[in-house]
Amino acid sequence: MTQAGGIEIVRTVADLRARVGSWRAAGLSVGLVPTMGALHDGHLSLVRQSVGETKRTCATLFINPKQFNPNEDLAAYPRDEAGDVAKLKSAGADLLFAPEVAEMYPPGAATQISVPGIGDILEGEYRAGFFTGVATIVAKLLLQALPDAAFFGEKDYQQLQVIKRMTADLDIPVRICGAPTIREADGLAMSSRNAYLSAQERAIAPTLYAAIRSLAEAVRGGADPASQAAFAAEKLLSAGFSKVDYVTVRNAETLEPVAANDEPARVLAAATLGRARLIDNIAV
Ligand code: PAF
Repeated sequence: MTQAGGIEIVRTVADLRARVGSWRAAGLSVGLVPTMGALHDGHLSLVRQSVGETKRTCATLFINPKQFNPNEDLAAYPRDEAGDVAKLKSAGADLLFAPEVAEMYPPGAATQISVPGIGDILEGEYRAGFFTGVATIVAKLLLQALPDAAFFGEKDYQQLQVIKRMTADLDIPVRICGAPTIREADGLAMSSRNAYLSAQERAIAPTLYAAIRSLAEAVRGGADPASQAAFAAEKLLSAGFSKVDYVTVRNAETLEPVAANDEPARVLAAATLGRARLIDNIAV
């Protein structure tokens, strides 16, 4: 274990279990905040939520190769462990688990967790294997740390629903907590991938939030979800997005297409701007 100015860093499952086990033996509740690093205020809001709700907070930093497909550039994913450690410390985290790939996937590791249905639609259609990679690594992290609660951002709304489904299906005794999306002043949802945007693209990017907000308002007012979603997609293309994978209104829990305007619904969207594929969502 190493100590970096107040926050302890562990890199093995054995050390993680030893530290979390000592907290639990002392009767302290534990919160887990899984991340892939390149931390921004969205991640730090999850750390602060965990600090507020539990006695000890462990963040994890692992760029999970199994959730990148061959078309996505794993090597280019932003990395800044020293900066992340400083931010975690300032947000009040007690421990960082930052394992190497071989610790998480030792030679011979074969088991995968897939979540058919909710994991196959929307992001699952456009990012083959993504949710299997996410469900597998999150299940491993939950079972390695066995926290009382784990915190995930609503920015990745489908991911949150997949993780809730997986945790319930596997009877993993951890409370899964969602936290509201943190946005820049102009509405753009914070994301590590925003770093890929040029200055010109960055100026266009808030159109995504504006489009889904107007769509949610229109549907709330009784407008037809499908035609309003098509209108929102056109707005994105005319603003400068090169491709719209989906803009859609779904049941807020199952993410199946909405049957009627009266169920809890969520607008979800994914679109490409320059090198960045941006996703966002909002409650109707
Ligand atoms: O949202 C993320 O950063 C990742 O998908 C997660 C949940 C840390 C799993 O690798």
